[in-house]
Amino acid sequence: MFGDKEKQLVYIGSDHAGFKMKEQLHKHLQEAGFDATDLGTFTEDSCDYPDIAREVSEKVKEHEGSLGILMCGTGIGMSMAANKMRGIRAAMVTDENMAEMSRKHNNANVLCMGARISTPEMIVKMTDKFLATTFDSEERHARRVQKIDEL
Ligand code: RB5
Repeated sequence: MFGDKEKQLVYIGSDHAGFKMKEQLHKHLQEAGFDATDLGTFTEDSCDYPDIAREVSEKVKEHEGSLGILMCGTGIGMSMAANKMRGIRAAMVTDENMAEMSRKHNNANVLCMGARISTPEMIVKMTDKFLATTFDSEERHARRVQKIDEL
Protein backbone atom coordinates (compact mmCIF):
# COMPACT_ATOMS: atom_id res chain seq x y z
CA MET A 1 0.00 0.00 0.00
CA PHE A 2 2.83 2.41 0.87
CA GLY A 3 6.26 2.50 -0.72
CA ASP A 4 9.28 2.10 1.56
CA LYS A 5 10.06 5.80 1.32
CA GLU A 6 6.61 6.89 2.38
CA LYS A 7 5.40 4.48 4.98
CA GLN A 8 2.28 5.69 6.77
CA LEU A 9 3.22 6.95 10.24
CA VAL A 10 0.91 5.60 12.93
CA TYR A 11 1.05 6.38 16.65
CA ILE A 12 -0.72 3.93 18.91
CA GLY A 13 -1.57 4.06 22.60
CA SER A 14 -3.89 2.66 25.22
CA ASP A 15 -4.58 2.68 28.92
CA HIS A 16 -4.46 -0.50 31.03
CA ALA A 17 -7.89 -1.60 29.76
CA GLY A 18 -6.66 -1.52 26.17
CA PHE A 19 -3.11 -2.71 26.85
CA LYS A 20 -3.37 -6.31 25.60
CA MET A 21 -5.28 -5.32 22.48
CA LYS A 22 -2.85 -2.48 21.82
CA GLU A 23 0.09 -4.91 21.93
CA GLN A 24 -1.70 -7.17 19.45
CA LEU A 25 -2.65 -4.30 17.17
CA HIS A 26 0.83 -2.78 17.22
CA LYS A 27 2.27 -6.13 16.06
CA HIS A 28 -0.40 -6.36 13.36
CA LEU A 29 0.48 -2.87 12.08
CA GLN A 30 4.19 -3.60 11.98
CA GLU A 31 3.57 -6.84 10.10
CA ALA A 32 1.36 -4.94 7.66
CA GLY A 33 4.28 -2.58 6.93
CA PHE A 34 3.18 0.57 8.75
CA ASP A 35 5.69 2.74 10.57
CA ALA A 36 3.86 2.21 13.86
CA THR A 37 5.14 3.67 17.13
CA ASP A 38 3.81 2.47 20.47
CA LEU A 39 3.48 5.34 22.96
CA GLY A 40 2.30 3.19 25.87
CA THR A 41 1.04 2.25 28.27
CA PHE A 42 3.57 -0.53 28.64
CA THR A 43 2.13 -2.57 31.51
CA GLU A 44 -1.28 -3.61 32.78
CA ASP A 45 -0.92 -1.31 35.80
CA SER A 46 -3.73 1.17 36.12
CA CYS A 47 -3.05 4.49 34.39
CA ASP A 48 -4.95 7.59 33.25
CA TYR A 49 -6.20 7.56 29.66
CA PRO A 50 -5.90 11.38 29.15
CA ASP A 51 -2.11 11.10 29.55
CA ILE A 52 -1.88 8.61 26.68
CA ALA A 53 -4.40 10.52 24.55
CA ARG A 54 -2.19 13.59 24.92
CA GLU A 55 1.01 11.70 23.96
CA VAL A 56 -0.53 10.26 20.80
CA SER A 57 -2.32 13.49 19.84
CA GLU A 58 0.84 15.55 20.22
CA LYS A 59 2.70 13.21 17.86
CA VAL A 60 -0.12 13.31 15.30
CA LYS A 61 -0.10 17.12 15.42
CA GLU A 62 3.69 17.18 15.10
CA HIS A 63 3.90 14.86 12.07
CA GLU A 64 1.66 16.02 9.25
CA GLY A 65 -0.21 13.17 7.62
CA SER A 66 0.33 10.79 10.52
CA LEU A 67 -2.58 8.99 12.17
CA GLY A 68 -3.29 7.94 15.75
CA ILE A 69 -4.97 4.94 17.30
CA LEU A 70 -6.20 4.99 20.88
CA MET A 71 -7.85 2.33 22.97
CA CYS A 72 -9.31 2.32 26.44
CA GLY A 73 -12.12 0.24 27.93
CA THR A 74 -14.90 1.91 25.95
CA GLY A 75 -13.00 4.26 23.63
CA ILE A 76 -15.06 7.11 25.09
CA GLY A 77 -12.52 8.64 27.48
CA MET A 78 -9.78 8.52 24.86
CA SER A 79 -11.96 10.26 22.28
CA MET A 80 -13.06 12.94 24.76
CA ALA A 81 -9.47 13.66 25.73
CA ALA A 82 -8.03 13.60 22.19
CA ASN A 83 -10.75 15.90 20.88
CA LYS A 84 -9.70 18.59 23.37
CA MET A 85 -6.49 18.99 21.38
CA ARG A 86 -6.70 21.56 18.57
CA GLY A 87 -6.21 19.94 15.18
CA ILE A 88 -7.19 16.49 16.41
CA ARG A 89 -10.35 14.93 15.01
CA ALA A 90 -10.83 11.73 16.99
CA ALA A 91 -13.56 9.27 16.03
CA MET A 92 -14.88 6.68 18.46
CA VAL A 93 -16.07 3.79 16.32
CA THR A 94 -17.70 0.42 16.81
CA ASP A 95 -17.99 -0.89 13.26
CA GLU A 96 -16.18 -0.84 9.93
CA ASN A 97 -18.61 1.57 8.31
CA MET A 98 -18.00 4.14 11.06
CA ALA A 99 -14.23 3.67 10.67
CA GLU A 100 -14.49 4.23 6.92
CA MET A 101 -16.84 7.22 7.11
CA SER A 102 -14.76 8.88 9.81
CA ARG A 103 -11.93 9.15 7.27
CA LYS A 104 -14.03 9.81 4.16
CA HIS A 105 -16.31 12.53 5.48
CA ASN A 106 -14.73 13.76 8.73
CA ASN A 107 -11.03 13.41 7.91
CA ALA A 108 -10.52 11.84 11.32
CA ASN A 109 -6.86 11.66 12.24
CA VAL A 110 -7.28 9.59 15.40
CA LEU A 111 -9.21 6.33 15.70
CA CYS A 112 -10.60 5.45 19.14
CA MET A 113 -11.92 2.02 20.05
CA GLY A 114 -13.10 0.20 23.14
CA ALA A 115 -11.18 -2.93 24.05
CA ARG A 116 -14.04 -3.93 26.37
CA ILE A 117 -16.66 -3.15 23.72
CA SER A 118 -15.39 -4.53 20.41
CA THR A 119 -13.92 -7.97 19.72
CA PRO A 120 -10.23 -8.23 18.79
CA GLU A 121 -11.28 -9.29 15.28
CA MET A 122 -13.48 -6.21 14.87
CA ILE A 123 -10.76 -3.93 16.23
CA VAL A 124 -8.34 -5.22 13.60
CA LYS A 125 -10.97 -4.82 10.86
CA MET A 126 -11.87 -1.26 11.92
CA THR A 127 -8.20 -0.32 12.07
CA ASP A 128 -7.46 -1.76 8.63
CA LYS A 129 -10.45 0.08 7.15
CA PHE A 130 -9.48 3.37 8.81
CA LEU A 131 -5.91 3.16 7.54
CA ALA A 132 -6.94 2.15 4.02
CA THR A 133 -9.40 5.03 3.58
CA THR A 134 -8.60 8.58 2.55
CA PHE A 135 -10.53 11.82 2.95
CA ASP A 136 -13.14 12.36 0.28
CA SER A 137 -12.08 15.97 -0.20
CA GLU A 138 -15.22 17.25 -1.94
CA GLU A 139 -15.83 20.89 -1.17
CA ARG A 140 -18.75 20.25 1.21
CA HIS A 141 -16.75 17.82 3.35
CA ALA A 142 -13.69 20.07 3.38
CA ARG A 143 -15.90 23.02 4.37
CA ARG A 144 -17.48 21.10 7.25
CA VAL A 145 -14.18 19.81 8.58
CA GLN A 146 -12.79 23.34 8.36
CA LYS A 147 -15.72 24.50 10.49
CA ILE A 148 -14.94 21.83 13.08
CA ASP A 149 -11.33 22.97 13.20
CA GLU A 150 -12.45 26.56 13.73
CA LEU A 151 -14.68 25.77 16.71
C1 RB5 B 1 -10.77 2.26 32.92
O1 RB5 B 1 -11.35 1.46 33.89
C2 RB5 B 1 -11.85 2.86 32.01
O2 RB5 B 1 -12.57 3.81 32.68
C3 RB5 B 1 -11.19 3.44 30.78
O3 RB5 B 1 -10.46 2.46 30.14
C4 RB5 B 1 -12.10 4.00 29.69
O4 RB5 B 1 -13.07 3.08 29.34
C5 RB5 B 1 -12.62 5.34 29.90
O5 RB5 B 1 -13.32 5.91 29.03
